[in-house]
Amino acid sequence: MKIISKITIGLATAALLTVGCSTAKSVSEESLGLRKTNLYVESNATHGDATKYGTGAAGSGHKIQRAFQDAPPMIPHDTEGMTPITRDNNQCVSCHMPEVAVSVGATPVPASHFTTFRPAVALSKDGKLMNNGEVVDPAASSKGNAISIKSNGDKLSGTRFNCTQCHAPQSEGLAVENNFKPVYTSKDGANRSSWNGAKMTEGLNTVEGK
Ligand code: HEC
Ligand code: HEC
Repeated sequence: MKIISKITIGLATAALLTVGCSTAKSVSEESLGLRKTNLYVESNATHGDATKYGTGAAGSGHKIQRAFQDAPPMIPHDTEGMTPITRDNNQCVSCHMPEVAVSVGATPVPASHFTTFRPAVALSKDGKLMNNGEVVDPAASSKGNAISIKSNGDKLSGTRFNCTQCHAPQSEGLAVENNFKPVYTSKDGANRSSWNGAKMTEGLNTVEGK
């Protein structure tokens, strides 16, 4: 009896859905995606928007507003011949390290890139999680998850060496308009990052490592 009533309800729902579908305004498959052409035929009518990276050489003075406060800036200049970045060939640092950046008109690599944010813990030879010579249990102790925020002096942190992991060239003529309107929290947030050594840990719940 129970089963029968379930089936009856199921059928009634299906009937309702069918009625719903037949009266609803139909939506064509083509209108759903970015591609507005027949989805089952590859014809010349279907073509994507070409990727158009800026071709201005580094130093032409063109910059792109930051997407939001402290967003990694997009690369505004041509990167032809600069990638891939390898251990022995990183042209980005040759212009962007603070000691040369000012003279070539490039934005200097910021303070955060000279800081280590790695965990304060390390594995011992016998596989124990150690913090400052002490065995820690990450689940039980805040020391187990502690991040060690340390200045790297004037040495670029190894985690920032591969610039194009976070900074990318901007393609122009976007297929989809970006309606996002950033609210910058610092006065010149559209043009520079606000992170510095003093503000680095502000608002972060971390334990200073040694
Ligand atoms: C020949 C020197 C030179 C090289 C090499 C170079 N840049 Fe630049 N970069 C500049 C200059 C100068 C600017 C400022 C805009 C301009 O004048 O083109 C700039 C701007 C930038 C910006 C935007 C900064 C801002 O304030 O908005 C980023 C990000 C950037 N470069 C990243 C890179 C990366 C990543 C590489 C390596 C793939 C690289 N650059 C290689 C000179 C260089
Ligand atoms: C792990 C991601 C990451 C890597 C790798 C990285 N950056 Fe950044 N970069 C950021 C972020 C996020 C910001 C903005 C916030 C900040 O200042 O830390 C930034 C900011 C910058 C700025 C703007 C500084 C300012 O004062 O406005 C420059 C220039 C820059 N990076 C260049 C580089 C170069 C050159 C490399 C390679 C040597 C590099 N970055 C590697 C994430 C990264």
